[in-house]
Amino acid sequence: MRIEGEAAVVTGGASGLGRATAAALAEAGVKVALFDRNLELARKAAAEIGALAVECEVTSADSARAAFATAREAHGPARICINCAGIGGSKRIVDRQNQPMELDHFRRIVEVCLIGTFNTLSLAAADMSKLDPLDADGQRGVIVNTASVAGYEGQIGQISYASAKGGVIGMTLPAARDLASWGIRVCTIAPGIIHTPLLMGLPQETLDMLGRQVPFPKRTGRDREYASLAMEIIRNDYLNGETIRLDGAIRMAPR
Ligand SMILES: NC(=O)c1ccc[n+]([C@@H]2O[C@H](COP(=O)([O-])OP(=O)(O)OC[C@H]3O[C@@H](n4cnc5c(N)ncnc54)[C@H](O)[C@@H]3O)[C@@H](O)[C@H]2O)c1
Repeated sequence: MRIEGEAAVVTGGASGLGRATAAALAEAGVKVALFDRNLELARKAAAEIGALAVECEVTSADSARAAFATAREAHGPARICINCAGIGGSKRIVDRQNQPMELDHFRRIVEVCLIGTFNTLSLAAADMSKLDPLDADGQRGVIVNTASVAGYEGQIGQISYASAKGGVIGMTLPAARDLASWGIRVCTIAPGIIHTPLLMGLPQETLDMLGRQVPFPKRTGRDREYASLAMEIIRNDYLNGETIRLDGAIRMAPR
């Protein structure tokens, strides 16, 4: 897809993988809107990248609709949507005191990572469906979601996160099939361990240990490696309906 001069929405664009992808898009001449619940951080990133910061809570239909309206007014409807908003969190099903996990923990992670992804995917697709096709294939736009290797190999304590990310992997093919008649492609990236602010709470020792578990290269991934794959998905018209692992061949052990 030819992207120069087009508009893009990046959820979770204030930080980490979303921010890196937003920067790559802006560098390629795309008008980028950063959707994030953290408006202050989004504004800072937007000023550095040359983008528009828009407050958006991806779990809310109203907040996301309003954010799309703001971005549409500034840039026109987006042909590119990158879904990076997400949270982590670890809790076992039954704790050491034999107590079950609070349902709200599970609900919150599924709400942000899975329902939030569907929310912005559907709003972006509705906007794209009203645009003229860009080429002889009839392509109107492309959506890139973010799952995780935990969607395939969830570790102990990751039941909530793994369920949410497994849902994102599961929605990829039906979303691509559903939106094919509009000429909209949908792919998902399943990252391994990428060094972003999400991991910044971890001590360097733990990060080094995580890096050593990767077959090759023996290190954590870089945000620009995610951005590079997202840009290839956007540009390569024959990538559709697929989840691509970006993980240095890591396969997570139970713990
Ligand atoms: N970093 C990794 O190792 C890794 C691995 C696998 C998957 N992922 C996934 O990649 C995505 C991006 O992660 P990251 O590492 O860049 O994290 P990050 O914490 O650096 O960035 C996530 C951004 O999403 C925003 N956000 C969180 N909840 C939101 C909500 N409800 N509404 C709107 N914005 C919200 C945050 O404010 C933040 O700016 C997440 O979905 C994460 O699960 C990350």
